Amino acid sequence: MKKSEVSENSNVFDNLMNKERIFRNREALSSTFIPSEFPHRNDEINSFANILKPALYGARPSNILIYGQTGTGKTAVAKFLCEQILEKAETENKKIHTAYINCKQTNTPYGILANIGKTYYAEWDDVIPHAGWRIDKVYATLKQKADDNGGIAIVVLDEIDALVTKTSDDILYHLTGLNSDLNNSKISLIGISNDTKFTSWLDPRVKSRLGEESLTFAPYNAIQIEEILAQRTQIAFNDNVVDPVVLSYCASRAAQEHGDARKALDLLRISAELAERDDREIVTVDYVTQAQNVMEKDQVRSIISTLPIHYKATLASAILNQGKRENGQQTTGEVYSTYTKICERFNLSDLSQRRIGHIISELDMQGLINAKIVSLGRQGRTKFISVVLDENQVKELFREDSFLSDIMDELTKTGNYIGSTQTRLV
Ligand SMILES: Nc1ncnc2c1ncn2[C@@H]1O[C@H](COP(=O)(O)OP(=O)(O)OP(=O)(O)O)[C@@H](O)[C@H]1O
Ligand SMILES: [Mg+2]
Repeated sequence: MKKSEVSENSNVFDNLMNKERIFRNREALSSTFIPSEFPHRNDEINSFANILKPALYGARPSNILIYGQTGTGKTAVAKFLCEQILEKAETENKKIHTAYINCKQTNTPYGILANIGKTYYAEWDDVIPHAGWRIDKVYATLKQKADDNGGIAIVVLDEIDALVTKTSDDILYHLTGLNSDLNNSKISLIGISNDTKFTSWLDPRVKSRLGEESLTFAPYNAIQIEEILAQRTQIAFNDNVVDPVVLSYCASRAAQEHGDARKALDLLRISAELAERDDREIVTVDYVTQAQNVMEKDQVRSIISTLPIHYKATLASAILNQGKRENGQQTTGEVYSTYTKICERFNLSDLSQRRIGHIISELDMQGLINAKIVSLGRQGRTKFISVVLDENQVKELFREDSFLSDIMDELTKTGNYIGSTQTRLV
C-alpha cells in the first residue's frame, strides 16, 4: 500500500475537514479580524483620516480622543486607519511609524515606552533591559531613538482610561509632553475609551493636549448591525448557509444591549459553530437561541470566577438559603447568618453585616442576585433577596470553582445554613 493511501484512509480529521460546509473563512469572525469596509462608519473614518492626513506631508497630526460605547468599532477603525496610512506612506515614500497599545494589558510606564520605542528601533527589547533602568533613562533613550530615526509616530492608546487613576496620570503627562522634547521627529497620540468621564481625572494640561480633537462613535441601531452582519456573512460563510432571519434576530438582540456589533458578531459565530457541531448545513434561529444561552452562561461564569472571596461566600450563602425558603426570599440577616458559618468553617475573618449589605447590593448590580426593599408596614422596611440565576446552572458553575464547590459540599452535608429563627434585619 502507498503511504499516501494509508494516511488518506486512516486520519480521523479527513472526514471532519471535508465537512467544512458552513464556514468559508472562519477567521473573519474572530475578534482580531479587521474588515476592509465599515458600514455606517464613513463619517467617522473620514474625519479620523482627515486628522491623520498631515502625517503624509511630514506634519504632526493633532492628538485625538475617541469615545464610544463598547462594540462601536473604535479599535477596529483605529487599527484599519493605521494599516491604511502605513500603506500610503510606503507608496509616497514618507516615514510614518504606528504603535498600537492596549493599556489594559500594558499599563506600566516602562511597557508603554518600550512599545513606542520598538516602532523606531527594532532591537529595543534586546538592548533596553526589562527592568532596572530608571524611567527617566528609558524616556531619554526613546527620545534619542525617535530623533535618530525621524518621521512621525502615530501611537494608539486603546482603553486609555486604564492609565489614569484618581491619583496619577504621570504616563500621559510625559507622553503628551514628548513632542516638545523631540527635534527630528514627532508623535501623535490617539486615545480610545468607552468611559467619557475619565478625562475629569486628568491634569488640565494633559486633558487639553490629549483632546486636541475628539470623535464620538455612536451606538448602532438594529438595522445598522444587520448590515454589518450581512457584510461579514459574505466573507465568513459559504453562500446561502445562514438563514436571513438569523441576521435580523442577532442584530435585534445586540441592539437591545446598547448597539454592540461585537455582541452580534459573537452571537452569529457561536450559532454557526453550534449548527456545525450538529452537522447541519444551515444556521437557523434555533441555534441563535442556543448560542444566547451559551453566551449568558459564559458571562456569568466569568463574573463568578473573578469575584473576591467574600463576594463568593455571600453569593453561596444566598444560593444555599434559597433552597430553604418557600417564597425564595431572604433577608440580609439570613444571608449574613449563613455567611458567618462559611467564614467560621473556612477560616476566613468575617466582615460586618453592614459590609455584606454592600456586597449584596453589588451582586445585585452584577445581575447575580435580586435585592429589593420591601415595606413591612409598622415593622419598617427590609431588603428581600432572591437568586435570579437558574439554580442548576449556578450549581454547575459553582462546581468549576474550587472554593465555591467546597462550600456547597460542606454546607449541604451539614445543613448548616439559614437560621430560621433569625431576626429579620435590614
Ligand atoms: N461598522 C462596522 N463594520 C464592520 N464591522 C464592525 C463595525 N463596527 C464594529 N465592527 C466589528 O465589531 C467588533 C467590535 O468592534 P471594536 O472591537 O472595534 O469595538 P470597540 O468600539 O473598540 O469596543 P470596546 O469599547 O469594547 O473596545 C469588531 O469585530 C469589529 O470588526
Ligand atoms: Mg476596543
